[in-house]
Amino acid sequence: MNILLLGSGGREHTIAQKLYESPRCNALFVAPGNAGTTQIATNIECDVNDFEAIAEHIKEHQINMLIVGPEAPLVKGIKDFFDAKSDFKDLMIIGPSKRGALLEGSKERAKEFMFSHKIPTAAYQSFSKESLAAGKDFLETLKSPFVLKADGLAGGKGVLIIDDLETAQDELEQMLTHDKFGKASEKVVIEEFLDGIELSVFVLTDGKNYLTLPNAKDYKRIGENDTGLNTGGMGAISPVPFANDDFMRKVEERIIKPTINGLTKEKIDYKGFVFIGLMKVGDEPYVIEYNVRLGDPETEVVIPRLKSDLVDLLEKTSREELSTVNLEIDSQSAATVMLVSGGYPEAYEKGKEIKGLDQVNESDVFICHAGTKQKNSATVTNGGRVIAVTAFDKDFESALEKSYRATEKISFDQMYYRKDIGKDLI
Ligand code: AMP
Ligand code: GLY
Repeated sequence: MNILLLGSGGREHTIAQKLYESPRCNALFVAPGNAGTTQIATNIECDVNDFEAIAEHIKEHQINMLIVGPEAPLVKGIKDFFDAKSDFKDLMIIGPSKRGALLEGSKERAKEFMFSHKIPTAAYQSFSKESLAAGKDFLETLKSPFVLKADGLAGGKGVLIIDDLETAQDELEQMLTHDKFGKASEKVVIEEFLDGIELSVFVLTDGKNYLTLPNAKDYKRIGENDTGLNTGGMGAISPVPFANDDFMRKVEERIIKPTINGLTKEKIDYKGFVFIGLMKVGDEPYVIEYNVRLGDPETEVVIPRLKSDLVDLLEKTSREELSTVNLEIDSQSAATVMLVSGGYPEAYEKGKEIKGLDQVNESDVFICHAGTKQKNSATVTNGGRVIAVTAFDKDFESALEKSYRATEKISFDQMYYRKDIGKDLI
């Protein structure tokens, strides 16, 4: 099978590696990819949102399967674009239709979906410019801290958690009337604060059947002990030790099943990954958000734990045959530590040479490229999140130890990483 994968992060390098390992993968292309994917696939210079250009590449390389890594092309409707063209009727596409992608593209839509299918989530109301005054009044009825969410995609920055009522009312006004997050904050969801511990659950669905993939916990803040600005993710572990069988049964019964049944009932064409962001409050799971793709860096610890052939899984997804699959998962733990550019998630420099990658030779350690680029014979930094170092072992503590040992061999100017990934769980 010829496969084209869209994206350029650590998530895509990890998926590409798993596809590459499959005997069913004939030719693998990644657009635009990074220095890691060039080692196992052909990188194609192409914007993931330029559907016409993607269509040309699909024809040229006789692609059978298109896998969409990031959310933006899904929310923009890449699936619907290809479905509408008769030339591509045999193309398998992994990723939901535009209607499905709205579960991530609109927080208001996601909340409506959860309420209509009785999926546990925080109470909320949504507001627009016209209802600003009502929004301020609603904030007065809530207890601090206040959770304000831009309705649309805001690159992971659209959620504000604020202690002080007046500041929250002020921020609401900034979002609704001063375009704080551009078009994304034309509507704002205000919701009840959930006090608990977060984890992510991943599901692969063909729209009717589903497989529950390994769960993971990521570390979002830039600073140790979860301080400082939010990032795309500074590290992750899988499985999550506090997500025991009893808790996961609740997640399956109260959240995963109603979610997939909801997709079926609403006749939403959804063949792809569902990333469910959860808060464990006491022993009960609540949904914080849906994403319509895999997470990054969660993918770096979730996908390597799949023992089943990924090409096979994705083909069955596309053919609505997931009920025939017996998913095999590695019982070992995986951990990943993200090496980032100094200054990230604010301004940072690119083009720094990355040294020591060839010194990491342990069999249970995988160097996963995120923001990297090949420049002549050197690998250089090309983003905020640069490399994820993933390792396996019998438990997450040992996996982390391996990860950190490998990390010490890698260096680039102003490299930074958190040294406390997983420490809160020991
Ligand atoms: P989201 O983009 O919806 O995942 O929100 C970003 C982050 O804000 C989440 O990962 C949580 O840490 C936090 N968050 C979102 N909603 C809530 C909530 N209702 N209560 C507490 N924390 C929340
Ligand atoms: N790690 C969070 C995300 O991928 O959105």
